Amino acid sequence: MSKPTALRNLSKQTLFKKGDVFVLFGELFGRGYANGLVNEARAAGLTLIGMTVGRREADGSLRPLNAEELATAEANFGGKIINVPLMAGFDMDSPAGTPTPTAMVNEMTLKSWQEDKLDWAHIEACRQVGVARFKAAVAQAMAQLDALIPDGANAFFAHTMAGGLVKAKVFLAIANRIYKGRGDRFMSSQALLESDLGKLNLMNFDEVTANTFGHLIEGSAAIRARLEKTGGAARYTAYGYHGTEILIDGQYQWQTYTNYTQGYAKKRLEDIARAAWEKGVRATVFNCPEIRTNSSDIFVGVELSLFPLITALSREGCGAWGEAQYKACAALLREDASLETLLGNIHRYNVQPTMAGFRNFDAWPMNNTPELAELMIGTSEDITAMHKERTALITDLLSALVIEATGPLMFNEAAAPSAPVLWLNHDVIAKQLAALHG
Ligand SMILES: NC(=O)c1ccc[n+]([C@@H]2O[C@H](COP(=O)([O-])OP(=O)(O)OC[C@H]3O[C@@H](n4cnc5c(N)ncnc54)[C@H](O)[C@@H]3O)[C@@H](O)[C@H]2O)c1
Repeated sequence: MSKPTALRNLSKQTLFKKGDVFVLFGELFGRGYANGLVNEARAAGLTLIGMTVGRREADGSLRPLNAEELATAEANFGGKIINVPLMAGFDMDSPAGTPTPTAMVNEMTLKSWQEDKLDWAHIEACRQVGVARFKAAVAQAMAQLDALIPDGANAFFAHTMAGGLVKAKVFLAIANRIYKGRGDRFMSSQALLESDLGKLNLMNFDEVTANTFGHLIEGSAAIRARLEKTGGAARYTAYGYHGTEILIDGQYQWQTYTNYTQGYAKKRLEDIARAAWEKGVRATVFNCPEIRTNSSDIFVGVELSLFPLITALSREGCGAWGEAQYKACAALLREDASLETLLGNIHRYNVQPTMAGFRNFDAWPMNNTPELAELMIGTSEDITAMHKERTALITDLLSALVIEATGPLMFNEAAAPSAPVLWLNHDVIAKQLAALHG
């Protein structure tokens, strides 16, 4: 059985200094992973440069940000944003005068989608239009970026793009049932993958979540070459997901959220980093723990693996600060609930044979089952109900801690990365928090 390559110790390496440039490839949202790196880069004195995916008009056309949107985005990010729309995926692209993949999916119904067929030659033509549009936008953005990075500087390119769910009404209803449905509302992820609709989505995930990393590395080749020639360097990071080791039964064990349909695209993302590495480009995918963000909220139950981090904090030496986190978590629960009971429930959940059956690294990403949905979504609902407020969850607090830790872990390791694909498990996350606060 193959094994994840984990980062076990904190890197103390430094490369980046004041005057170097940090480029965020993707937009920054309040709860997003990228905040960890952005904060670290800002603290190290780097110049922050952001990108945008642009905005869609009601007719589906893509445009840059308007003056007001740009000002808001730049204030939120704390740096200049290059205003070239870098929306990836081809769900809204097509050769002129022909239907887009989204329009084609809109013809399907909740009754018919498993039998509905797509015209693959046409889908491929749409994909080519989308890829050409994205690559042209990257070239335009890189030309602007080139002028903003001085000779001899180091550039840190942080890729954060992921997504690609085709935004057709019928598919959103199906996705809701696959990721949130149990009992009568359960839907099999395998049925989706076997349908043309599912295959189209996998292609779009590949374009958004994986291939954009390749286009970034390729599109910035001239900048990289200039910097290397003048005494600087370029580094690339991306956020992966491929399960996480968390404390189960007193030991760090690999586990995963299921069904993570996007997992095929995340494996492709890892392959892109490995291929770049072979060519001498320092590109590293950091496979990160499950947290709650705008993007992951659709996956009910993904947050359950966060709770054992509370135990990892004391195990890895977070001391009094770790105890304060324990108390802060406990304070979010109702009077009649306790954190001890909650952690006991999580323990029983993790050692259930149903859950253990999904801890198969080589078979990842596996499909869902009715038993899994029942157990995972049920446990998620029960644990949420133990809180005083649904808007102030322990997993919000823990997600913020994970984001904080990934900042220095990725920033420092990227200076001289040890591998193209590295897992950040709960052990090293807690060690980093201990170093920051313990
Ligand atoms: N949330 C988790 O549990 C988790 C775990 C491991 C890895 N990650 C990864 O972390 C990264 C950031 O995600 P996040 O969870 O912080 O959520 P987020 O919503 O903050 O970030 C999603 C990013 O994807 C970009 N994006 C979305 N659709 C796009 C499109 N069509 N074209 C181009 N860009 C698009 C957004 O601009 C944004 O930068 C992603 O790669 C995600 O897969 C997340």
